[in-house]
Amino acid sequence: MTTCRYRGRALIRLKWDNVSKTTIILEPGDEAAQVAIGRCLAEALAYHGIVYLNGELGAGKTTLARGVLRALGHDGAVKSPTYTLVEPYDLETGRVYHFDLYRLGDPEELEFLGARDMLADRALTLVEWPVRGEGWLPAADVVITLSLMGQGRRLVLEAGSDHGVQALQRLAVSTRDIS
Ligand SMILES: Nc1ncnc2c1ncn2[C@@H]1O[C@H](COP(=O)(O)OP(=O)(O)OP(=O)(O)O)[C@@H](O)[C@H]1O
Ligand SMILES: [Mg+2]
Repeated sequence: MTTCRYRGRALIRLKWDNVSKTTIILEPGDEAAQVAIGRCLAEALAYHGIVYLNGELGAGKTTLARGVLRALGHDGAVKSPTYTLVEPYDLETGRVYHFDLYRLGDPEELEFLGARDMLADRALTLVEWPVRGEGWLPAADVVITLSLMGQGRRLVLEAGSDHGVQALQRLAVSTRDIS
């Protein structure tokens, strides 16, 4: 089992939103830190739940997904399923569905893909460009908004369910080691 620990330079700052305790901000300074956060997130979610990944082209959504997949035991390449819209992974620790809806024309296409069954599965589901599936997708446990910050990235993680709140509380503890 992999852990989310990242032994690198001090790259991440952690802040609590003291009002709601459901928002965390992380600032990974390079790709390795981004992957480390993905690992921590997968662990914090106990390897199941729905995560929305919002952010412009190149914001680091697929890199974060790679960290999640590493935590579940996937060592191979992780490509964004831009044309196939979804890539399923059946891994030793559980199932992951990685959606990239950038090229989704109509949310109804998700129906044809069999996404309804995938979303009903006890899996860890990652959705890049969830806005394209708005109105069709179920609510997320965690909504992550990624943006560029200097050479690194800024990640705002917000809980959307009780499972998400618990996951972010665990994540706040586990990523403390990173900073
Ligand atoms: N925290 C980070 N700091 C610096 N570079 C990063 C970080 N995270 C990712 N990157 C780099 O940003 C680039 C784009 O990352 P990625 O492909 O994950 O973006 P994306 O949000 O999935 O883009 P798209 O919307 O096109 O799918 C990659 O070269 C990756 O190495
Ligand atoms: Mg991507």
